Amino acid sequence: MASSTILSLGSASPLALLAVSENSKVPPQKVKFGSSGLTNSFLKAKGNSSLKSQSFGRISMTVAVNVSRFEGVTMAPPDPILGVSEAFRADTNDAKLNLGVGAYRTEELQPYVLNVVKKAENLMLERGENKEYLPIEGLAAFNKVTAELLFGADNPVIREGRVATVQGLSGTGSLRLAAALIERYFPGSKVLISSPTWGNHKNIFNDAKVPWSEYRYYDPKTVGLDFDGMISDIKAAPAGSFVLLHGCAHNPTGIDPTPEQWEKIADVIQEKNHIPFFDVAYQGFASGSLDADASSVRLFAACGLELLVAQSYSKNLGLYAERIGAINVVCSSSDAAARVKSQLKRLARPMYSNPPVHGARIVANVVGDPALFNEWREEMELMAGRIKNVRQKLFDSLSAKDKSGKDWSFILKQIGMFSFTGLNKAQSENMTNKWHVYMTKDGRISLAGLSLAKCEYLADAIIDSYHNVS
Ligand SMILES: Cc1ncc(COP(=O)(O)O)c(C=O)c1O
Repeated sequence: MASSTILSLGSASPLALLAVSENSKVPPQKVKFGSSGLTNSFLKAKGNSSLKSQSFGRISMTVAVNVSRFEGVTMAPPDPILGVSEAFRADTNDAKLNLGVGAYRTEELQPYVLNVVKKAENLMLERGENKEYLPIEGLAAFNKVTAELLFGADNPVIREGRVATVQGLSGTGSLRLAAALIERYFPGSKVLISSPTWGNHKNIFNDAKVPWSEYRYYDPKTVGLDFDGMISDIKAAPAGSFVLLHGCAHNPTGIDPTPEQWEKIADVIQEKNHIPFFDVAYQGFASGSLDADASSVRLFAACGLELLVAQSYSKNLGLYAERIGAINVVCSSSDAAARVKSQLKRLARPMYSNPPVHGARIVANVVGDPALFNEWREEMELMAGRIKNVRQKLFDSLSAKDKSGKDWSFILKQIGMFSFTGLNKAQSENMTNKWHVYMTKDGRISLAGLSLAKCEYLADAIIDSYHNVS
């Protein structure tokens, strides 16, 4: 009597079946597998299984190993920013500090939900709002307030209906939608991005199949803006290129052009017939003022330029996980704006159909209600103020502790959530490996993840890494 068993070889192999026959006279390929009636020929017929038979005395084995269809998929590297948080979570040292991701923390280093957000959510519950699909372009009340917040309600571009606004999946999704528009309607056109820039910009344009190149931005000698390099690279680019600009609080450097420099940038872009493409991820978070932080975008609009602007509410309303933002395209006529909007909707529909409602209602409630709006501004000033305080304390600690005479004042000239320390890759690695300070390898630290109490420790780590690691 032949008996047969099926043994699973564990999860490492997606399908590995072992047929064991105790009677060597029974050819393995004739063995039936229990009540399911599976035979080796069935396994063969399944296609990508390889069948191996071997005899061990009285025991014959047949192994069918299914090779994964995904064998050619290689392991992706961890995300350079989000991967830092994963490594931080795995570290058990008490002194550890996560300065990788740009997310606001309280002085106690806890995540913060704004009071105005809680109030807006309570309002939504009281009203018992439904969860029906939004239109492809998003919530009308959100689209109205978001464009007004960006340009100012009385801006001619709004009054004349020249802005195509579509709700996006936060800043990233809005940039991606704009990239899809560029790919479809400006094939072959290049996007110029600053060197360095937020790490995801390159991924976004790569995936959208939009060619890009870099313009000089950061000068390591001064840890400041390489303005001449920036201007000459923008001038040298093919006419009609898109120029990606960080509206305020440049990520990762924290270095913004001055108002006079912005004017010059607008002039050169106009001369070259380029199209400015603003990424506004920190409105209100850089200076504490929503209007001041939108001044670069408003200047370009006032010059009569057509432009694109991606917005995000991740940082200024702390709505990181709600994925709420917008893409705005300012056109020279309302007619063109209507057509652009129709095409943005057409691009969005097969990608994600329509955007989520929760964050859109929060923003519409906060920005659209004068009392909540004022409260928001106060809370934002508080958040921006806390970051300014740690920036100052970090500078003071570095200046007091570092006896080498190095000038650390560049830290005070930077703005927003981040500071670009000027530490190189090896020095940044020392910060993590020796001091348990988690940060991106380009030397960027998020001051939003720093408390006053930890400034001295961080200063010690920076001084050690800067002077003792080449
Ligand atoms: C420059 C810049 N653009 C866009 C984003 C997008 O963020 P989100 O997709 O969360 O809105 C970020 C976030 O860090 C950023 O720094």
